[in-house]
Amino acid sequence: MSQKEVVVSGIRSTGYLHLGNYFGAIHNYIKMQEDYNCYFFVADYHSLTTHPDPKDLKANVFRVVAENIASGLDPEKVALYAQSDIPEIPELYLMLNMLAYKGELERVPTFKDKVRLNPDNVNAGLLTYPVLMAADILIHRGAKVPVGKDQEQHLEMARNFAQRFNSHYGELFPEPQVFRFDENTVKIMSLDGNGKMSKSENVNATIYLSDEDELIRKKIMKATTDSGPQEPNSAMPDYIQNIFQLMQLVSAPDTHATFLDAYNNCSIRYGDMKKQLAEDMVNFVGPIRERAAALQQDEDSIRKILKNGAEKARARAAETIAMARKAIGINYY
Ligand code: TRP
Repeated sequence: MSQKEVVVSGIRSTGYLHLGNYFGAIHNYIKMQEDYNCYFFVADYHSLTTHPDPKDLKANVFRVVAENIASGLDPEKVALYAQSDIPEIPELYLMLNMLAYKGELERVPTFKDKVRLNPDNVNAGLLTYPVLMAADILIHRGAKVPVGKDQEQHLEMARNFAQRFNSHYGELFPEPQVFRFDENTVKIMSLDGNGKMSKSENVNATIYLSDEDELIRKKIMKATTDSGPQEPNSAMPDYIQNIFQLMQLVSAPDTHATFLDAYNNCSIRYGDMKKQLAEDMVNFVGPIRERAAALQQDEDSIRKILKNGAEKARARAAETIAMARKAIGINYY
């Protein structure tokens, strides 16, 4: 395992996973797990920045773990763990905090957004969110980090902190790079054509991995369409393109081809297309939902998986901390 490149990624524990998360992230994790030394964790400490209700925390963490495994993530192949099970992460976070400057943290766009949205809760954890994220990655001396566009700035800061540590204390950390595993990774638009599918907004136009069959059908039948193309081979509006894309992802290739032909010769009936897509989506999401639900019922299994993952993660984290302490000069005994 140790010869392979180290990939680290954090999964938010808030909100329900949806098709955008599946095709944008999880799907790639599943391919990466074959060829990389992967550390995937639930970022439960990060979620404390917004003060979640203590009685929801465990259910959120267990659900995210169950949904990722149900989607194909294999805890035998990757280290899958909870951030809070790795005490070496907050230790490195503390060390990195001494190298992170208030000014640069205040300039981070995601911080400024959160201040604007929640002026009553501008806590220090929010300010140092990128430092904790850097610690998550550097604790494994991670080389590659699969993240979306919205996280690239955070990753740049992780590189800066790594570099600063190295120049203060000697070369220890690689500078972690954004990992675009698959350039063709798709963006899943919401079914009403307004932006992307979301963990918290647009819930009626987002398909969650936990949605029941009937709800999936209802959402798809309500997807935005129009009266159809007026001329052969017309350009597709975004919302129609999205329905075709979903069909390409979950339906048989010839089903997709048939509807595409119908679109191009103007005989398409969107009602029929959505009915077909709804059935194919139910067949795609249903088994994931069922596996995730069964696993969530089996808390002992989830606990075992997390313990196991934490053991693997801590083995590497302990090495890093020992090296970091020594580099800093904390070697008294
Ligand atoms: N900030 C990331 C997000 O909001 C989650 C995250 C936390 C993360 N720590 C990480 C991602 C480390 C990659 C690596 O999605």
